[in-house]
Amino acid sequence: MRVKKAIIPAAGLGTRFLPATKAMPKEMLPIVDKPTIQYIVEEAVQSGIEDIIIVTGKGKRAIEDHFDHSIELEQNLLEKGKLELLEEVQKASKLVDIHYIRQKEPRGLGHAIWCARKFIGNEPFAVLLGDDIVKAQKPCLAQMIAQYDRYRSSIIGVQQVPENQVSRYGIIDGQSLTDRLYSVSHLIEKPKQIDAPSNIAIMGRYILNPGIFDMLENQKPGAGGEIQLTDAIAELNRFEAVYAYDFDGTRYDVGEKLGFIQTTIDFALQRDELRNDLLDYFSQILDKKHAKIK
Ligand code: G1P
Repeated sequence: MRVKKAIIPAAGLGTRFLPATKAMPKEMLPIVDKPTIQYIVEEAVQSGIEDIIIVTGKGKRAIEDHFDHSIELEQNLLEKGKLELLEEVQKASKLVDIHYIRQKEPRGLGHAIWCARKFIGNEPFAVLLGDDIVKAQKPCLAQMIAQYDRYRSSIIGVQQVPENQVSRYGIIDGQSLTDRLYSVSHLIEKPKQIDAPSNIAIMGRYILNPGIFDMLENQKPGAGGEIQLTDAIAELNRFEAVYAYDFDGTRYDVGEKLGFIQTTIDFALQRDELRNDLLDYFSQILDKKHAKIK
C-alpha cells in the first residue's frame, strides 16, 4: 500500500522558546519569512503525501489560520496590486488537505501519534516532527518512502551525532545492511552517553506500519514520564522488522535556540535579496571583534 497520509505532531508547549511561545505556537516561529511548520508541510507534499493531520493542542489556533484562506488579507493585497505576495499567502492554503485533531493533554509524542489513529486507519503512514527541517536534493521523506516501497517495513530516519549529544535523541542499534540502511535491533529514548548503544540518532522522520497503534495503546510512560514513540517502535520491533535509514541531506534543529539561529542564518544566506547585505554585516561584526582583540 502506498504511503499517502502523514501526521505532524504540533501539540508541544515550546518551553525552550519562552516567552516567545507563551501566546504563539512554536511551529509558527519563522525561518526568515516562513513558519517552520510550512517547511515540514512542503516536504510532505513534495514527497507525494496527499493528506496531513496535524495534532494540535491548546493555543495552536494560529496554525489552522495559517493554512486557511485569509479573505480580507488576500483582497487587500489584490487591490494594492501586490501580486507576488498574494501568491505567497495563497500558497499556504493551497498546499494539501490538512486535518486537525487536538491532543487534550500533553502526554508525549507517542500519545500524540495515537490520537491520530482513526484518521490513519489500517495503512502505513509518515510522521514528520516539526523540530527537524531537512534540506536535501531529494526530500528526506521521499527517500524514506522509496525505502518503504522496497522493504514494506517501518523505517526510521537517522543520522549520526557526536557522542556527547546522544542523550538528546532516540538512539538505535542495528546491523548495517547497505550503505545507508540498518536493520534495527534495539532502540532507546534519550539514553545517558554511557548507556547509548551507538551514536545513530532518530531525526524526526518515520514511516510506520499501522501495527504501531496496538503498541501505543498499551505503552507505559518512559523517558521524561511521557509516552514515547521510540518505546512503542521498540515493542513493534519484537513482532516485525524495523529498519533505520541514514538519509541524505542536512538536518537543521529548529527546536532549540542555537540551532534555530543557525538555520535562520543559513536559509537567509541562500536568499539572493539578503545574502550580500548579510555577509557585509557579518564582516562588520568580525572587524569590530578583531579590533577589540588587538
Ligand atoms: C523526539 C523523539 C526522539 C528524536 C527527536 C528528534 O524527541 O522522541 O527520539 O530523536 O525527536 O528531533 P524530542 O526532541 O521531541 O524530545
